[in-house]
Amino acid sequence: MTNRSRAPWRVAEFFAGIGLAGTGLRAAGLEVTWSNDIAKAKHDLFRRLNGKIRGHRYIVGDLGKLSSSDLPYDSDLAWASFPCTDLSIAGTRAGLHKGAASSTFWHFIKALSALGDSRPRLIALENVTAFATSHSGRDIASAIRSLNGLGYSVDILSIDARHFLPQSRPRLFLVGVSGAVLDDGKAGSIRPKWLDPIYADPSLRTHRMGLPELPPLRTTGLAEILEQVGDGDDRWWARERVAVFIESLSRAQRARFDALLAGTSYSYRTAYRRMRDGVPRWEVRSDEVAGCLRTSSGGSSKQAVVEVGHGTCRVRWMTPMEYASLMGAPSASLSGISDHHAYSGFGDAVCAPVVEWLARNYLVPVLESAADDSPQDTWALAG
Ligand SMILES: C[S@@+](CC[C@H](N)C(=O)[O-])C[C@H]1O[C@@H](n2cnc3c(N)ncnc32)[C@H](O)[C@@H]1O
Repeated sequence: MTNRSRAPWRVAEFFAGIGLAGTGLRAAGLEVTWSNDIAKAKHDLFRRLNGKIRGHRYIVGDLGKLSSSDLPYDSDLAWASFPCTDLSIAGTRAGLHKGAASSTFWHFIKALSALGDSRPRLIALENVTAFATSHSGRDIASAIRSLNGLGYSVDILSIDARHFLPQSRPRLFLVGVSGAVLDDGKAGSIRPKWLDPIYADPSLRTHRMGLPELPPLRTTGLAEILEQVGDGDDRWWARERVAVFIESLSRAQRARFDALLAGTSYSYRTAYRRMRDGVPRWEVRSDEVAGCLRTSSGGSSKQAVVEVGHGTCRVRWMTPMEYASLMGAPSASLSGISDHHAYSGFGDAVCAPVVEWLARNYLVPVLESAADDSPQDTWALAG
């Protein structure tokens, strides 16, 4: 295993997309030196967000077809936010083995395997929470078993971006640690009960590292990230379209909407269009946070912003810049990037502040402990 003795810790970012995992990791002091993604459009947006980073190489290409000389041989951490399409409830649920997109996970395992003794000490995976239950838990078990086979013990965490940002975005994080690991045995809210069957599976090598409490879940904050869109701006929907929007609300939704409409201040909400019994209906969130952003493919993936109060209502699509802010990249410059590419890139990404929290509270402490102790495999209590 790669065993650097001190920071800066080096990161290889697999399935890097627009690079928001790297943004979070860099904020915690790590150095991203290698990235790979198959999508050129994602790389274009990555460059726009990051410019040229010294000492960093981004390879655009299919991970399954990279030559061994292209692989990152001196990383301390490998991050992999692999595709969720076949694991998410909204997707096919074809799973980790048969799903064309999510089976790219096995390219990652092959790459780690090809690195041999140069494998990183730590790995971190990110995906939707449905990964934990895909194919009755068999998918995650085979993923963990393959990581165990490469020498990693695995910890499983569920973190909602709403702890950090006004967006509901629950995600699963797997942290693989090579060698012996600290196991305080505590679940905490970060390891909810539905993860218990994975920890209880005697065929898997898992551990639970002690972690601080996450910040409280946010129920407000949407208004602060919204762009100022002026009265005459044609992004606000025409009156007739807003009337159709209101007309489509269910009875319960309408009662809530009417209460906001009668308010003496403006309220800001997000709304999604859903098919209910074959009828398209808009659904407005009850809290002041956005629903989970999705990559743009199909009509139901985009969210609308609703301003309501003083007896009036305006509705528009959420802007690409609002997507960027909700993913933790509020200073992104998106001029020249098509709306489609921005929605796809940010909707598919990982929230940078969640990654930063995980890096500060878990990944960096593990790397530092490993560097303090020698030989490398005795840095902590056996799990
Ligand atoms: C969930 S996204 C990860 C996004 C990333 N964390 C970010 O912040 O933008 C999964 C990524 O895997 C990439 N991908 C899919 N198949 C791939 C393959 N065979 N080789 C490399 N990358 C692939 C997609 O283009 C997509 O960007």
